[in-house]
Amino acid sequence: MADLPSDRDVLMDILAFHLEAGVDVALGEEPVDRFAESAAEVRTAGAAPGRPRPAAAAAASSALPPPPAPPPSAMPAPAGRGMPARPPAAPAETGAPPPPDIAALDARAAAASAANLDSLRVLLEGFDGCPLKATATRLVFADGNPQARIMFVGEAPGREEDIEGKPFVGRSGKLLDRMMAAIGLDRGSAYIANVVPWRPPGNRTPTPQETAICLPFIRRQIELVNPDVLVCLGGPSAQTLLGITDGITKARGRWLDYQTGRRSIAALATFHPAYLLRTPLGKRMVWRDFLAIRRRLEETRNGRM
Ligand code: URA
Repeated sequence: MADLPSDRDVLMDILAFHLEAGVDVALGEEPVDRFAESAAEVRTAGAAPGRPRPAAAAAASSALPPPPAPPPSAMPAPAGRGMPARPPAAPAETGAPPPPDIAALDARAAAASAANLDSLRVLLEGFDGCPLKATATRLVFADGNPQARIMFVGEAPGREEDIEGKPFVGRSGKLLDRMMAAIGLDRGSAYIANVVPWRPPGNRTPTPQETAICLPFIRRQIELVNPDVLVCLGGPSAQTLLGITDGITKARGRWLDYQTGRRSIAALATFHPAYLLRTPLGKRMVWRDFLAIRRRLEETRNGRM
């Protein structure tokens, strides 16, 4: 008869399963039984008709799909206009973030109220509308020079970025540094950020809802940095900011206009450095893109930096 697995083997299997599923950070010292919490909420909600049900309880007892995500629009709304006059949504009793459509409205109002990058960072630090904040270690706002003429925008921070609090510091960041150096740029002459400033657990792709909630903040960040050239690193960044619907292989290397609401910025999508680490053949095309970026920076030089 085969030996039964030891407790240790079982625990190691469970841990391995969690890691593969992307659960690679501990959020607290003590485990919390969320299933027991949801069951208790369902019982409470059932006993008090008319009270709004907490999201977890609603999800546990309803087969309805969640409300559709507000589509990220390619054009940023002009700051301060069309903004509903409502205070930021208070977190629900459960501590859960507000529903995505309310959170996206709150994000627009908050982002529009930021007069400069420092206040945008402070507003983001205090913004509880994106569920990713709860699982990330910290906000990853930006790195580089806010006066730079060029801004790179990636998708979302990864593990190293989450630990350090700076974008592109892991393996793909090192490659981005080398790519920038090849055209005479570094973090003193470029500004770097992400569409989503909190790490999605296990480096999964941010959901459309999470992206839509974070979108007003990155739009405002671009507007405040006001670069001459905007580079979207990878398909998700290009789709979100430039409204590109083609795949990145087709869309890369083409100059587009990014509208801040005040001015048009020359924008280009290229491959994400993480893709290049997996597919080194793509480096030839990225080299062409970076040469085009260098040319554009030379052409648009206007005395800044
Ligand atoms: N990938 C991204 O898109 N952003 C980072 O900051 C790191 C990796």
